Amino acid sequence: MKKLMAANWKMYKLAGEAGETAAALRARLDGKLPADREVLVIPPFTALGTTGQALAGAAGFALGAQNFYPSKQGAFTGEIAPDMLLDAGCAYALAGHSERRHILGEDDAMVGRKVGFGLAAGLAMILCVGEKIEERQAGQVEAVLARQLAAGLAEVPADVSPDKLAVAYEPVWAIGTGLTAGPAEVADAHKVVREHLIERFGPQTGAAVRILYGGSVKLGNAGELLGIDNVDGVLVGGASLEAESFSAIVTA
Ligand code: 13P
Repeated sequence: MKKLMAANWKMYKLAGEAGETAAALRARLDGKLPADREVLVIPPFTALGTTGQALAGAAGFALGAQNFYPSKQGAFTGEIAPDMLLDAGCAYALAGHSERRHILGEDDAMVGRKVGFGLAAGLAMILCVGEKIEERQAGQVEAVLARQLAAGLAEVPADVSPDKLAVAYEPVWAIGTGLTAGPAEVADAHKVVREHLIERFGPQTGAAVRILYGGSVKLGNAGELLGIDNVDGVLVGGASLEAESFSAIVTA
């Protein structure tokens, strides 16, 4: 299983700058991408074109989207459909990122609809889960993950191909704060996710679905994080915005 090294550019970068960063990333990693690494770049919608062009034909690189509305098409002003993302070259999409849950009010049920709909449309889906600091302090990490996983995976078919599904564990308190969960905290949370996946999809698929860690990943901690059991990749925000730092993380 290749480690999935994902760059979430959030609401950063105009189209031109995104294309330049993607081209710089490609130039730095061309011929140097380890065989066990896959790179995923997730720019804002308006930069999918330039980013996709910069990465076109590069082995081991994929393009992803940060969000979509779970419908084929229709009167949903301001939204974007999975078919439009596929048409723009996306292979992956996120669902349930903490910023969408906690800033934009997305609930568990909507996240579950998106994961199911995106998969059916042909996207590989990355379900993001993670607890808030007050939930961790109240000893509720396992309960929060269990709830988010149950709802987020509710519409995933039992025979899903493991390369079409990933889970990203991103503790909310570690996102953009410089705080990273410690190795024991990461190992514990990823074990909870793994056990849930095995219970839900059986030992084979459950063991093969990738579990990414996200939250203040940078060059200084990426190697250690990737060495922890059940950490099958990283989802990087801030440190993915520059080709220099993200390419170093990819090869960490
Ligand atoms: P940071 O790496 O900036 O903490 O962001 C993490 C994240 O939210 C990735 O999706």
